[in-house]
Formats: sequence, structure tokens, C-alpha cells
Amino acid sequence: MRPISRRSLLAATFLAAAATTSCAAGPLPPPLVEPGPGAVALNTRARHKGLFYGCALNDDTLTKDPATLARIEAECGIVVAEWSFKWAAIHPKIDKYDFTSADALMAWAGKQKIQVRGHALVWHEALPDWLPETLNAGNGEKLLTDHIHTVAGRYAKRLAHWDVVNEAINVEDKQPGGLRNTIWLRALGPAYLDIAFHATAVADPQALRVLNEYGTDYAIDWQERKRGALLDLLSNLTHRRVPIQAVGLQAHLDAAETALDQKILARFIADIASMGLKVLITEFDVRDDRLPADIASRDTAVADHGRAWLDAVLPNPAVLGVLSWGISDRHSWLNDKYPRADGLAQRPLPLDEDLNRKKLWSGIAASLDAAPARGTPSRT
Ligand code: XIL
Repeated sequence: MRPISRRSLLAATFLAAAATTSCAAGPLPPPLVEPGPGAVALNTRARHKGLFYGCALNDDTLTKDPATLARIEAECGIVVAEWSFKWAAIHPKIDKYDFTSADALMAWAGKQKIQVRGHALVWHEALPDWLPETLNAGNGEKLLTDHIHTVAGRYAKRLAHWDVVNEAINVEDKQPGGLRNTIWLRALGPAYLDIAFHATAVADPQALRVLNEYGTDYAIDWQERKRGALLDLLSNLTHRRVPIQAVGLQAHLDAAETALDQKILARFIADIASMGLKVLITEFDVRDDRLPADIASRDTAVADHGRAWLDAVLPNPAVLGVLSWGISDRHSWLNDKYPRADGLAQRPLPLDEDLNRKKLWSGIAASLDAAPARGTPSRT
């Protein structure tokens, strides 16, 4: 990966902003000088290119953190629930659905005219206790189809996308096609993917149907194998006319990873696009737990890394937009998942704990500014 200096970052941003051709939506935003409060918001920049920008949020943010919510309203055109639409939240008992928190998010987003993406109809985590105890080959198809019809049916026409299947691949599990060994695969075999995509297409034909995956970001062996297995799976699904429409790349990045190869990444996106599929960046963040404590150098490394990754991906017109997994360092799942040994909080998101724009915010802004304008307006 070629490190990006602050000077070249600012210069590239200025040039992108100064260009006057191929704009998708009216006048260009003013050049990004500093990530101060006056700079044009991320979703405004994204929309200008026919893209979208958004983030994940959870109940605590929605109900107890109006300051963060205000920043989300300012920066985002789309949100995704960190928890509320997952099985454990929305289907806690075999005969009981609980839409309280999903409905609250929909109500707020509706008021703000912010779009919502659904996440996720099939996953091997966030499962209610009853499900693994109950699911088997005999009842699996009906259980899954009923769940999808109920949940996707309830929010039909109101969601921009659905993550129909999340994290289907884990080559190390040594299952056919590199599929992850989950309760879904054990009960239904690989047909669970077909069942889920078909059921979603029936329940909410308008939402873009996405296969969401992590671990496809770097030129390292296990990710190389995962990219290969994912492309094979996509080819198989599309050839059999399973109604998948897009791939979500989670993009949980690691600022200490040196094997970021922009050519390999761009090739991978092009391979997905060649199958007629769209690409969404769904859970972007940049972990810093393997970096030294110093905040200024951490923020620079996180920003340079995130921008280098986005710069490789955003040029492909199949890419529709970016969501980060949270907006501010006040809350990130990474502090639970990969706590820093020194006890400091990670700084993986565009805003700091005081909700000020960080260097990563500038990096995302610059990458959006540098992206070519899409021919057609985005879905947000
Ligand atoms: C995480 C949430 O951020 C946590 O709050 C929750 O406890 C576990 O799930 N990939 C995904 C997301 O698709 O659903 C995960 O979200 C992060 C990894």
C-alpha cells in the first residue's frame, strides 16, 4: 500500500472539488480544507456522485444520545440497526416477534427522511436460544420462510436493502463450496441460501437483496481463499437465477495490516460487477488495537488506511455507497471485540468521542470527492 501524505490528500481533494465536469447532482461542494464543522457532510458529498453514505446505530444512540443522533442526521442518508432486526431481537420466542426497537428506528428515520437498510435475515450469530434447539431438516424451510415473510413483509417497501444472508463463507470449516458450517447449513444444506433469497423477493420485492460478507479486504492467504469461494458462490447463485442482487463488503479494516493491495481489491470488485451484481460497503471501520497509543499518529494511520481501501473500491460504478459501523468513537463494537492491551478506546470511526470530525472523516470525504460520478442517481 502506498502511504498517503496529508499534503497529497488535501491536494487530491482540492483537485477533485475544483473539477467542473461530470457532476451528478448540481454544483460541486466547496473544497475540503479542514474537517471542521463548516465542511460539507459525507452524505452530501456521496449524493453528489450518485453514492450514499450512512452508518449503523443502536437503541442506546437512538434513545439516549441526542447529540450523536444529530450528527447522524447531518452526515447520513441511510442507517442500519446494529441489533434491532437480528433474530434474537425481533423473534425472541418461537411464537413471539418483538418489533419494538425496529419500529422505533423506522419511525425516527421516517421523520428524518433517512433511509434504512435491513440487517440480517440469516446469520449464525445473534440467534434466540430457542432456534438452535428447534431447527432441523424437517422444519427448517418453514421456520426460515415464515420468519422472512413476517419480518421483511412488515417493513416491505420501506427498506432500501436487506442483508438476506450474512457471513455465509468460512473456508476453514471445510464444507462444500467453502460454506460456513452453521445451523442453517446443517439443517437445510446449501439450499438455505436459495430459500432465503426467494422468500425475501416475495416478501419485499423492492429492497435490494444482498449477500453480506467480511474478510475479503487484504492480500493474505485466508482472505484470498475467501474471495475465491465467494466469487464461486456468486457465480453459482447467479447462474441458477437465485434472486441475489448485490454483495455487501463489511470492510472491518485493520490499520496495522500491511497487505492492502489496491489492484487485487479493484479486480475483486470488477469480478463481482461482471456478474451483474452491485456492491455495497456495509460496515466500514478501521481497528487500531495493534497501533501505538499516540492519538495523532493513530488517527493518521487509520485515515490513510481507510482512504487507501476506499480509493481502490469506489471507482467501480457497481459500488453504490458506504456505511460505517457507527459514526463516532463514543461507541464501537471493536472495543468489545478487540480491546486494546493498554486499555485505551479505539478510534476507528469518522468522529471522535466529542463528535468532532477526525482525519478518517477527511479521508472518507476525499475518497468520495475523488470517486467518479455515477450515471444514475443512487437509491438514497
Ligand atoms: C455486532 C454489533 O456491533 C454488536 O453490538 C453485537 O453485539 C454483535 O454484532 N458483522 C456484522 C454485524 O454483520 O452484525 C456485527 O455487529 C459486527 C460484525
